[in-house]
Amino acid sequence: MVKVSPSILSADFVNLERDIRSLGPAGADYVHVDVMDGLFVPNLTIGIPVVQAIRRISPLPLDVHLMIDRPIRYVERFCAAGADILTVHVEADTEANTLEALRKIQAAGVRPAISVKPATPAEAVLPYLDLCSLVLVMTVEPGFGGQSFMADMMPKITEIRRYITEKGLNCEVEVDGGVNEATGRTCVEAGADVLVAGSAYFKAPDPAAFVAALHGLDTHS
Ligand code: DX5
Ligand code: ZN
Repeated sequence: MVKVSPSILSADFVNLERDIRSLGPAGADYVHVDVMDGLFVPNLTIGIPVVQAIRRISPLPLDVHLMIDRPIRYVERFCAAGADILTVHVEADTEANTLEALRKIQAAGVRPAISVKPATPAEAVLPYLDLCSLVLVMTVEPGFGGQSFMADMMPKITEIRRYITEKGLNCEVEVDGGVNEATGRTCVEAGADVLVAGSAYFKAPDPAAFVAALHGLDTHS
């Protein structure tokens, strides 16, 4: 079944506890937490203390998406704060440092993940794939919720899925940016198995029905 990871970037931060507690009953599989540093992306969001606080109230796995420059400086602290999946960007550091960051995440018992921005080609994930438990394909420029879905990223999803199959790896493909029921279907058809949804989830009149609709997307339907 397709997994759903609501992005709390679109939550009501005044009522963050209420919104996080509502994710499990709505059927969400992960909690997507967007960390931005104002350097790797032109926006600032939340950091380690907030991840720690979310950990205290969320039984769901925390899917932490680091949009920060040279994440190797912080990965161990995000693991200790309670991340279950920790994603770093290929564009955020040198290949050697990115490999080292992924190894640190793995050593902490957390699922290592790599992400690619829209302009980064599929093959950029290859040096990291053996180490990764998830690949996150961006379908918007990282930095903000509520942007339009880039359908031209679908071949990249298919190519990354092909690499994973060819190497016989146990690695999920997650898509982030502009995902709703219609665009989510396109992603699943292209080979995605985890869908991040921020604005579409938090604006849905019935979030449980929205999650159920995404869960129901299947390449064979
Ligand atoms: C954007 C973030 C996304 C964002 C998605 O940089 O990585 O997770 O919250 O928001 P929507 O689903 O509204 O595009
Ligand atoms: Zn994200």
